[in-house]
Amino acid sequence: MKSRILFLLSLYPWLIACNPEEYSPVVEDGYQINPPVYFGDYKERIPSDNPITKNGFELGRKLFYEKALSADNSISCGTCHQQKLAFTDGKAKSEGFEGRLGKVSAMSLSNLLWTENFTWSGKFDRLKDQSLDPIQNPIEMHLPLEQAVKKLEEKGYAADFQKAFGSYDINVERIGNALAQFQRALISSDSRYDQYLRGEIEPTQSELNGMNLFFTHPIPGQLRGANCGDCHLGPLTSGDIDGFQGFHNNGLDNDETMDDGLMAVTGKPQDKGRFKTPTLRNIAVTAPYMHDGRFETLEEVLDHYNSGIKKSETLDILIIEGSNEPINVHDEIRLHLTEKEKKDVIAFLHMLTDESFLNNPDFSNPH
Ligand code: HEC
Ligand code: HEC
Repeated sequence: MKSRILFLLSLYPWLIACNPEEYSPVVEDGYQINPPVYFGDYKERIPSDNPITKNGFELGRKLFYEKALSADNSISCGTCHQQKLAFTDGKAKSEGFEGRLGKVSAMSLSNLLWTENFTWSGKFDRLKDQSLDPIQNPIEMHLPLEQAVKKLEEKGYAADFQKAFGSYDINVERIGNALAQFQRALISSDSRYDQYLRGEIEPTQSELNGMNLFFTHPIPGQLRGANCGDCHLGPLTSGDIDGFQGFHNNGLDNDETMDDGLMAVTGKPQDKGRFKTPTLRNIAVTAPYMHDGRFETLEEVLDHYNSGIKKSETLDILIIEGSNEPINVHDEIRLHLTEKEKKDVIAFLHMLTDESFLNNPDFSNPH
């Protein structure tokens, strides 16, 4: 017994030295990402066949801002995903190749490492596939992938691919992998809210009220709440949980007017009008809001949740049940927040802005 304890004790310094939290490059030339523990585990979320390396990240970054990946050399991913706007484009509907208008608003790109399904309607479950789609999509960059490979060869990218993947071969798989590496490293975790979670700052009274409201499901007469955290979960403020559970109908439209949403992917009528619950990180800089960019301001968003909900077959139960007043089945669906409470929630939403993410030189256009 004694010898066993001594043996364990002798291992102790080694165990400390090897604690994976202590030093963490994912591979030898790993690109250092240090997400906060409250985002959840990350190492197992990085595909083992595509770790984030410094050279892979740098290649992904060059490709992300490479206009040659569009048919007429006019558009890159960075055109619709601009860093200073938390990788959105500030438009209700994105303009792609030759100004063609898409049906939906460009999505903010951050903390994608914890994302389970991509796009508003959940079309992809792998970041690599999601990243190759806009290149070929006729309303986005409109370039067949074989031509993308050829254009990158002509532009002298072979050396970058060699550094990133060990040989000069440029292929579609590697383009997708490099783009995925870059985007997985887009981690936003230094907002005032993070600084508060780390105990570095005191929030204002309004921010604190807003935070409590945001994460509280109301109980009439007992507990005031704004219900937001029921769907915009935890510190990531996104709906990223297994499968399509994070997809909801948040009452934007009635049955006649609503867009298909998740139903376009699953074909199931019960998924009509359900959309991906987006992250609210950096939300103050990503207007206009919702999949179709219908709201210009956060005030309009709060008015929507408070008193603008449209009833429909698939309206989410969390919205129906979320009220600060007793519910009568014949009533309109209302949260019944006061003007001050709405302002407080907005103060919390502003706390999610991360200036160091929006200005991180590592994520900027290298060309
Ligand atoms: C013309 C504008 C445009 C271009 C160019 C564009 N995107 Fe997007 N991006 C969008 C829109 C719009 C969506 C939402 C698509 C949907 O819901 O169907 C989106 C969604 C995404 C998402 C999903 C995010 C999430 O949280 O689900 C990722 C990732 C992404 N784009 C990466 C890229 C990459 C990588 C490129 C370049 C290869 C690119 N985009 C080029 C407009 C664009
Ligand atoms: C029932 C789940 C649910 C609840 C509750 C909920 N949301 Fe949402 N939220 C969503 C979904 C789903 C979307 C995307 C809807 C769409 O675009 O069609 C969304 C979109 C948003 C957007 C726009 C994001 C963007 O990138 O355009 C904001 C802002 C937002 N919600 C804030 C809030 C706030 C604040 C609350 C609480 C008052 C709240 N949400 C409550 C599910 C929910």
